[in-house]
Order: sequence, then C-alpha cells, then structure tokens
Amino acid sequence: MTATELPASLMATLPGQHYTDPAIFALEQSRIFESMWFCAVRCDDLDKPGAFQTVQIGRESVLVARDRGGRLNAFLNVCRHRGARLCIEEQGEVKRSLQCPYHAWTYGLDGKLIAAPNLQGMPDVDRSEYGLHRLHLREWLGYAWVCLADEPPSFEDTVIADVSARLGDEGEIDAYDVASLKLGKRIRYDVKANWKQIIENFMECYHCATIHPELTEVLPEFADGFAAQYYVGHGAEFGSDVQGFTVDGSEGVQRIPGVGEHQDRRYYAITVRPQVFVNLVPDHVILHRMFPLTPERTLVDCDWLYLPEVVESGQDLSRSVELFHRVNQQDFDACERCQLAMGSRSYANGGVLVPSEHHIGAFHEWVRERIESTSDGAAR
Ligand code: FES
Ligand code: FE
Repeated sequence: MTATELPASLMATLPGQHYTDPAIFALEQSRIFESMWFCAVRCDDLDKPGAFQTVQIGRESVLVARDRGGRLNAFLNVCRHRGARLCIEEQGEVKRSLQCPYHAWTYGLDGKLIAAPNLQGMPDVDRSEYGLHRLHLREWLGYAWVCLADEPPSFEDTVIADVSARLGDEGEIDAYDVASLKLGKRIRYDVKANWKQIIENFMECYHCATIHPELTEVLPEFADGFAAQYYVGHGAEFGSDVQGFTVDGSEGVQRIPGVGEHQDRRYYAITVRPQVFVNLVPDHVILHRMFPLTPERTLVDCDWLYLPEVVESGQDLSRSVELFHRVNQQDFDACERCQLAMGSRSYANGGVLVPSEHHIGAFHEWVRERIESTSDGAAR
C-alpha cells in the first residue's frame, strides 16, 4: 500500500529520505535553524564579562560573549580579515577582547574591531566596517535565544506563542520563574538520529507504556498512550502514591514557590519549535536544547533546573535527575533504532501515524511548509 492509499483514519509520515538526505537537511538548516529563534546558551553559563561560548546554529558557528557592561552579544564566529574561525573552543574566558590567532585582529566583546596590527604601507582599514557580524539575541527563561535572520520573526508570535499554545492559560510558565532557577545538572547526549526523530518522539506518548517503565509509574495516565502534548493546558497527574517526580516516586525537593495548587503534582511538556523541549514539574524544570549537526546526528543538552537554595545546599538530586535521564536514554535509543531504517526501501514512502500521534502529522506539515517556502524566515 502506498502512502496515498492509506485509510482515512491513518496519516502518512514523512518519507525516509527526509531523515537522511543532506539536501533536505541543508534546506532545514537555512529555512528553519538559521531563520528562527534558536535557544543557544544558558545565560548563567556566561557569568562574567569576557566569558564566551560557541554553538552550531544551522551551518554557522555562533559566538556568544558577555561584554564589560554585562550584556550578552552574539556574533558569527568568523574573523573579518581572512575568515579564520575566531574561537575554536566550545567555551572560554578572555580579559577584554577576542583576538584572532592568525594575524591578531582584535575585537572588543561588543564585536567592534579595535586593533589590526602591522598595517604599515597598507591603506587604513576602516575599523567600523570590519566589526564582527552581529546577530539578534533575546534573553528568555534564563537562556540566550539567537536569530541569524536579518529580520527575525516576532519572538512573542513564535517562541512565546508555542509555549502559551500548549499551556493555554497565559503566563502559566511564569509561575515557575524559570530564569531565576539554577543549574543542578546538565547531561549531553550525542544522538545518532535526525533532529525530527527526537521531536516526533517527544510529542507522542504512544511509546510510553513500552519503553518508559519508571515514567509510567510516576504518571500512570501515560501508560494509556495519551500524548503529553495532546490537550491544551493538560498536565499529567502524578500517581496517587507518588510523592515526587523522581525515579522511584520518592519525595522531591523544595517546591518552586509560584507553582499553584492546580499545577502541583502535575507534569507539563512543551515543544518550542524548532529545537527546545521544556518540562515543568513542581520542584524543577527540565530544558532540552537540540543542536542538529548532520542529517543523522544531533547533540542534545539537557538541563535540570532547581531553586537556587536547593542547588546551593548540596542536596542529593540524583533520584530527581535519574528519572528523566532514563527517559532520555530510552527515548534516544528508540530514535537511533528508527534512524537505522530511514534509508531502507521499506520506509521509502514513510510509515503511518495512529490517531494519538496526529499532532506529529501537523509537525510534518509545518516542516514541509518551511522547507518548501522560498523566502527564509517568512513562513511560520
Ligand atoms: Fe583573522 Fe587574519 S584571519 S586576523
Ligand atoms: Fe518518551
């Protein structure tokens, strides 16, 4: 049976080629990752002037640095002289300026070219013309979101709208005061799968009963396969004998004070297009950032965030972290297992989506619209 002959109740997925083809990935890089707001770095990771990080956004290496006034700035990580990669390190700290190791052009932390040595006999370089290429940056939830487009889409109509579309009640995420939380744990996962596998997996819960024994103990309704993101404003309720969102259902840590009674003992999962997942529980927030590197490889940085006093007290967070760490491993194993088959003739026309996965169909439609659009950044 081909995709076009499916019964009306079943939807086709994207064909396998969408998960392996470098040409399709290149379109996604330019029309999705380089055109939308991309959650790049955690602001707290750059805690002093001179601290910087480099991240991959689409085809570009991006440098995010804190300047002497305390402001975060984002630039393309490319020297304006002959194009050397300015910073090779993933993170580091400089005193006052960033110096290119090739001919020592030197840039301020605000991106201005401040020195270009040994230019005797050469025409003067107009320093104001050769500063680093600056990118748009917006801080939200304690992260720096960067947009490579010349004219970025509205942050409110894209990133914030994704969150409120899921949570329904406007401002509900504000109750968790995510920007004030501190990093309790970060784990990086190097996933041998296309970024869309990871999103699709996160959006559905059909697989929960099969691969997530610990999670379905804590959230019994997940055993029925209802998608965590299926209903607007629906938080999955903890089981009646569960005390906290931990690997064994034991008590968690201090609850975030703004969390209301209606959000207590509930789990909310949100996908922020194109590469972020936010999970909210009463005592912590789990935020995943994906960095798609190739059609078949994606880095995922997962942050566990708690109240500052919880992190500073040195409390044992291991049972709390372990629950979602196992969920991540179980999910990423499943994504890698699917990725292995994406080049098979058997999947050339794709697969099918059962009814509880129908919102994955909406995600596929969105991806297709983006990559088929002719103007970068215009479509939403
Ligand atoms: Fe950077 Fe020459 S390439 S100073
Ligand atoms: Fe899962």
